[in-house]
Amino acid sequence: MKKIPLFQPNITRKELKAVENVLKSKQLSRGPCVEIFEQQFAKFVGRRFAIAVSSGTSGLDICMKALGIKKGDRVITSAYSFIASANCILYQGAIPVFCDVNSHNGLINTNRLKQISPEKVKAILPVDIFGQQYDLSELKKNGLPIIVDSCESFGVPPQAGALANVYGFYPNKQITTGEGGMIVTDDEQFANKLRSLRNQGFKKTKDYLKKIDIGFNFRMSDINAALGLTQLQNAKKILQKRWKLARTYSELLDDILEVAFVLNMRNKNVSIFNIPIICKNRHIRDCIVQELEKHQVEYSFGFPPLTHFAYIQKATKCKPTDFPNAEIFAKNLLCLPMFTDMSTKQVLFIVKCIKQGISNAKN
Ligand SMILES: Cc1ncc(COP(=O)(O)O)c(C=O)c1O
Repeated sequence: MKKIPLFQPNITRKELKAVENVLKSKQLSRGPCVEIFEQQFAKFVGRRFAIAVSSGTSGLDICMKALGIKKGDRVITSAYSFIASANCILYQGAIPVFCDVNSHNGLINTNRLKQISPEKVKAILPVDIFGQQYDLSELKKNGLPIIVDSCESFGVPPQAGALANVYGFYPNKQITTGEGGMIVTDDEQFANKLRSLRNQGFKKTKDYLKKIDIGFNFRMSDINAALGLTQLQNAKKILQKRWKLARTYSELLDDILEVAFVLNMRNKNVSIFNIPIICKNRHIRDCIVQELEKHQVEYSFGFPPLTHFAYIQKATKCKPTDFPNAEIFAKNLLCLPMFTDMSTKQVLFIVKCIKQGISNAKN
């Protein structure tokens, strides 16, 4: 079997044609594609406004800025996530207040949230980790603005109660623009602030662009948008295909006691980003990994909990032991390949490697 990548974007003739058309038009930025992509994206997820940006990280950053998060403020976020969910708070001089997660799925543990004192807390940034949607029903009761880091959960409709959701389109995501992101919101004023912040602080007026504040260049180019638009038009099929592959993985791994499947396949509010599993112990994980490497199957260990980074420890005065569930979740995590063009045969092969690894671990 040929090398199996951890992720691989689904690029068809349609994507090639769409990008070629933009190149031929010579309108590489500020052409029509960004606006059409935004409109169709908003419609797809069921929000009034969509604002295309240069990455999920820049999207999170300007959401914090548009909320007015500033030095000394605090924003609650997950102790387990990709580093961008904490960095976007630190960029403002604000401090992330971590909430521990469930040890079985890495989502914020609502009970832990109740233990956090609301002092100086200005917003909450939950994370839809590994495509699992965090249930906002409890969170929205406290009245703080909620920005959801949905960078890994494109395809699950955003829930009521969030001011905005931020998506990421790096090539490991369900749909890609190469690099890029999208913010969605129902709040017109917030959307206008975001549009201005991503474009140097300009405000679009009838006759010209008016400069209203300091801003950035976090715009998406038309080349990226053309790619994203084509992917979006095929999104239902892409999502279904990934879901089917994930179900095959889960059925095949179901009776293997040495690994636990993280995603709850009975919950429709999961979008398939990759396939996280938790190995029973480090020895089992090492032996599985050995087998995967032997057969050129790529894998990852997910992310380290955020308190593992020295600069975050310094800023938050937190240490890894403060969030024991994040430690348990991350300790023996293993992320398996997932990409839209993957075959069932490849899934079967990966599961065979896992079984062989476990058998090696026992001998
Ligand atoms: C949970 C999460 N948040 C934020 C980001 C940042 O997105 P980007 O890489 O597009 O900046 C990612 C990207 O992988 C992510 O997984």
